[in-house]
Amino acid sequence: MLLLLPGTAGAADLDRGRELAVRWCGNCHVVDRTAPAGRADGLPTLPAIAAKPQTTAASLRGVMSAPHGRMPDLSIGAKDQDDLIAYILSLRSN
Ligand code: HEC
Repeated sequence: MLLLLPGTAGAADLDRGRELAVRWCGNCHVVDRTAPAGRADGLPTLPAIAAKPQTTAASLRGVMSAPHGRMPDLSIGAKDQDDLIAYILSLRSN
């Protein structure tokens, strides 16, 4: 599935974005919208992050470019970031 994000050079790949989210974010964040609940430690799920009005492609890029909390420096490439951002924003239910 392809989606064009404003402000990005090319088409982002949602399926690839989901795989990357499982690999890079799944250790700490619930990745899927179908998950019954968040984690016991209260970390926001990716759908919950997507639902926040202040979440934008730029804010997500910022989170991925700098370590946050206990999150290690992931050094995610630009194309991978685009796909991850497209996937996360696709979880927005509106
Ligand atoms: C090693 C654990 C870990 C991994 C891996 C991780 N995170 Fe996080 N993340 C956290 C923690 C802990 C917080 C809580 C905020 C803090 O402590 O600074 C957080 C917070 C966030 C927030 C802010 C949430 C809010 O409510 O504002 C976003 C956005 C986020 N993570 C996105 C991601 C994305 C996207 C990935 C994958 C590319 C990822 N995280 C991978 C641990 C992790």
